Amino acid sequence: MEAASPEDRRERLKVVYAEASGCVRCPLAATRTTVVFGSGHADAGLMFVGEAPGAQEDKTGLPFVGQAGKLLDRLLGEVGLARHEVFIANVVKCRPPQNRDPHPNEIEACRDYLVRQVELIQPLVVCSLGNFATKLLRGDPTGITRVHGQPEVRSLGAAAFRLYPLFHPAAALYTPATLEILRADFQRIPALLKLEPAPPPPPPTSREPALDEAATGPPPRAATGGASGPEATGGAAGPRPVAHAPRPDGVEVPTPAEASAPAEASAPAEAPAPAEDPAPEAGAPEAPAEAQPSAGGPPSGEDDERPPQLDLF
Ligand code: URA
Repeated sequence: MEAASPEDRRERLKVVYAEASGCVRCPLAATRTTVVFGSGHADAGLMFVGEAPGAQEDKTGLPFVGQAGKLLDRLLGEVGLARHEVFIANVVKCRPPQNRDPHPNEIEACRDYLVRQVELIQPLVVCSLGNFATKLLRGDPTGITRVHGQPEVRSLGAAAFRLYPLFHPAAALYTPATLEILRADFQRIPALLKLEPAPPPPPPTSREPALDEAATGPPPRAATGGASGPEATGGAAGPRPVAHAPRPDGVEVPTPAEASAPAEASAPAEAPAPAEDPAPEAGAPEAPAEAQPSAGGPPSGEDDERPPQLDLF
């Protein structure tokens, strides 16, 4: 099977972005300002999946630009990483009104975008931030308090990766104990990135494997671009760089038209509520519920027709 090059995958990611930016698959389309597709490196070895955009994100079109995002940047910096080296996305791409929890139909409607993002970026490690992302990516209702800091091999669509559940940064903003746990969990990220790529997802269990395989389409995951494919476990490719940064194939070319307002440009922002488990768990903090008004960000004029953002490297 033909392996997709990083350039191909980057171009395809832009196509998904174009599709998502006009999405009307769920009711959030009616209340959002901007679809927050995600931003970062199109060939990142490390991806973060948060919950949903908040007010600042809705305005700017960029994920994690509020207080939680600033904390995320800080934690990344503490382990020697920068935002442009990773890819940051959310479970749902549109802001739920008043930062309420995303509804199951919204999560389901948006799932396909996340699947395609993960399949195209092919991260080695996916950090799920908080309960919504963790439950979605684990396919299991166990709460973040029980599973944070415990890497496991998971797959989404045709992509296999090491899933590393973390507390949502918004939950750590006002709870020092949670921040310390999050910080300690972050410290293990560099080591996770040095591990071999996750093995491909197991074939679906079936009574008649051959027939079922034919019926369910392509095999678990095609090798796409050497080191990033799950088959590339032999060590020949070596550990995958965090972001495949300057590579001879030149994937890391910022597209000027896409380069956009950095996080610093935004005012102190809200953090959407990272919903915790319905049953309270020890150490599972409540997140700040609502947006703080923008104190210096872009004007929130009624019909402020700002272009959608794709901060893609
Ligand atoms: N919290 C999220 O989960 N996503 C964002 O983009 C911002 C805050």
